[in-house]
Amino acid sequence: MPAYDRFSAFYDAVMDDPEPRADRVVASIDRYLPRAASLLELGCGTGSILARLTALPSLTGLDRSPAMLAIAKEKVPDARLYEGNMESFSLGERFDVVISVFDSVNHLLTFDAWQSMFDSVHEHLDDGGLFVFDVNTLGELRRLGDEPPWVYDFDGGVAVIDVSFAEDQGGDGMSQWDIRIFEHVEGVRYDLHQEQIGELGVSLSRIESALAPTFLILDETDENGHPPTDSSVKAYFACRRRP
Ligand SMILES: C[S@@+](CC[C@H](N)C(=O)[O-])C[C@H]1O[C@@H](n2cnc3c(N)ncnc32)[C@H](O)[C@@H]1O
Repeated sequence: MPAYDRFSAFYDAVMDDPEPRADRVVASIDRYLPRAASLLELGCGTGSILARLTALPSLTGLDRSPAMLAIAKEKVPDARLYEGNMESFSLGERFDVVISVFDSVNHLLTFDAWQSMFDSVHEHLDDGGLFVFDVNTLGELRRLGDEPPWVYDFDGGVAVIDVSFAEDQGGDGMSQWDIRIFEHVEGVRYDLHQEQIGELGVSLSRIESALAPTFLILDETDENGHPPTDSSVKAYFACRRRP
């Protein structure tokens, strides 16, 4: 069963408000490619971001989880949705904008897979097209690994998320997210749905070097709009495809 299939039914209730993520994407498009008409989201999940980008006439999403895509289909019926692996894909068309948000890129668990994804993005962008993505930094994954598990009450149950983190010798780091959803059935009865999701942390210098041959980095900021470091929480990238 692909990761997120068990979590999918609870994902929207458990995760953060998607509005700020979508607003960042809109701000990048407004700033760097206001004429954009077509957009592809990699790791589109339940379609929460695509649903907020309907000002663009052509929306496409790709995700590995059929259960997440089934929810997206309800939410954004006009988007074209593909089941596939963003590590390497071939949709036979090009887009003005490709996005991958909410640390979807970190879900690729080797840096070779990141590089392969960057190549696929390059192949699917028009000349001058925009690539917008964000990552959880190494520092953030390390911090989450040091924290006690988070416990959320949500409408329908309780979620417990425990992140562990291990640095590797090459300077990257692997985090493991143990996600337990206790779905309220009735009275004191709960059903447990459990999933393990991995995220790879990579230094910003390594990401920048991998992008450099094929993308011009237009913008790279942390969660506060400042230049990010490996200790920031997030790094947000807006890149222009090089010819
Ligand atoms: C944290 S969610 C983000 C969903 C959405 N972008 C959002 O902002 O709500 C990560 C998504 O990436 C998808 N994903 C993980 N690895 C993937 C892969 N190799 N190829 C395609 N999708 C993948 C998961 O199925 C999941 O839907």
